[in-house]
Amino acid sequence: MRRVALLGATGSIGRQAIEVVERTPELELCALASGSSDLAALAAEHGVEHTQVGGDPTGLLEASEPDVVLNAVVGFAGVRATLWALERGVTLALANKESLVAAGQLATAAHERGGGLLLPVDSEHSALFQCLEGRRPETVDSLVLTASGGPFRGRTRDELEHVTVEDALAHPTWQMGPKITVDSATLANKGLELIEAHVLFGLPYDRIEVVLHPTSVVHSLVRFRDGAALAHLGYPDMAVPISFALTYPERAATAAPQLDLAAGLTLEFGAPDLETFPALALARRAGEAGGTYPCVFNAANEVAVDAFLHAGLPFLAIADTIAATLDAADGEPAADLDALVDADAAARRLARAALTDRGVVRGVGSTEQRGIA
Ligand SMILES: NC(=O)c1ccc[n+]([C@@H]2O[C@H](COP(=O)([O-])OP(=O)(O)OC[C@H]3O[C@@H](n4cnc5c(N)ncnc54)[C@H](OP(=O)(O)O)[C@@H]3O)[C@@H](O)[C@H]2O)c1
Repeated sequence: MRRVALLGATGSIGRQAIEVVERTPELELCALASGSSDLAALAAEHGVEHTQVGGDPTGLLEASEPDVVLNAVVGFAGVRATLWALERGVTLALANKESLVAAGQLATAAHERGGGLLLPVDSEHSALFQCLEGRRPETVDSLVLTASGGPFRGRTRDELEHVTVEDALAHPTWQMGPKITVDSATLANKGLELIEAHVLFGLPYDRIEVVLHPTSVVHSLVRFRDGAALAHLGYPDMAVPISFALTYPERAATAAPQLDLAAGLTLEFGAPDLETFPALALARRAGEAGGTYPCVFNAANEVAVDAFLHAGLPFLAIADTIAATLDAADGEPAADLDALVDADAAARRLARAALTDRGVVRGVGSTEQRGIA
């Protein structure tokens, strides 16, 4: 029996993870955490003793002694749980990409010390992990991340001037929480994933490509030096990477349908439009610059997405806010978690200042609001 601590239990990934645990006899829930949603009913329904709403989850993790931590918290708030699991060598099933982006160097060092498994839940990185498994690093040429392109694929900047929150939340292929859905519409999500892939697999940025692939059937590819490319295919369904990470290396059965190839399958790919969707290029710039620039990218994006969702920031101004924040930040590396939390808070202040310049209300996306400070 594998004991699973599920952080972000009330979210999109959290709810799908509960379904996976319910249909997998080898898995049981030992802890649940949320940001502010009450967990009493969920805990009673699943017989879970340990719960926590908001705050630092590390006490909950110590007390519940999980075999696997599924970190499905949204945003930088997931950073403590990620570092806790990596440091102790407890298997980490990671959906919370923001923590790995913001804390890349600390996470890599903690992972090396802890020596446990780090299993990505992001479908693209789960695909890359599976295509890379058992391969010698020198045989790998490059990684290819696929992107659906979100609801605004093919639009021009002019056409994005007046898009609404509702438009941005209408994702064509994935049903997800609001923050990642907006990130998919700006391509900031693919930017976060680019940095996540660099941290997870150690390849330099010039060997990680992003391509558009509207139907999200090919989850990602690895190119090898002999000219072969291995891809991971399946209908878009997060139950598959969640189950893979929770049951690794067993690969339990899921309810996901098999690909129906006889019905016909057309695979379309193309280059992303970096002028209309500059957030992806900004992420690459932040990743290549290193230090805490990825943390700054993430913090600015969280603040700007919050302002788009709740304070009327125009869609195109999300990337402008990220650019202004990256320009104003110093990107000094963070020696420890306290320094990283400070860098995140400083970046949020810069991003909020950029929003105030635009006349957007103060207080959105604050560290305090996210329960991190
Ligand atoms: N959804 C997907 O298909 C998908 C795919 C790939 C990767 N991901 C990644 O998975 C993560 C979760 O995404 P999601 O779509 O599931 O988001 P979501 O639906 O918005 O759910 C977020 C979860 O995080 C919890 N949370 C928020 N702040 C917290 C805090 N300070 N401490 C503890 N828990 C907190 C929320 O609790 P409350 O209910 O109390 O707010 C909720 O349970 C994100 O990093 C996202 O990028 C998601």
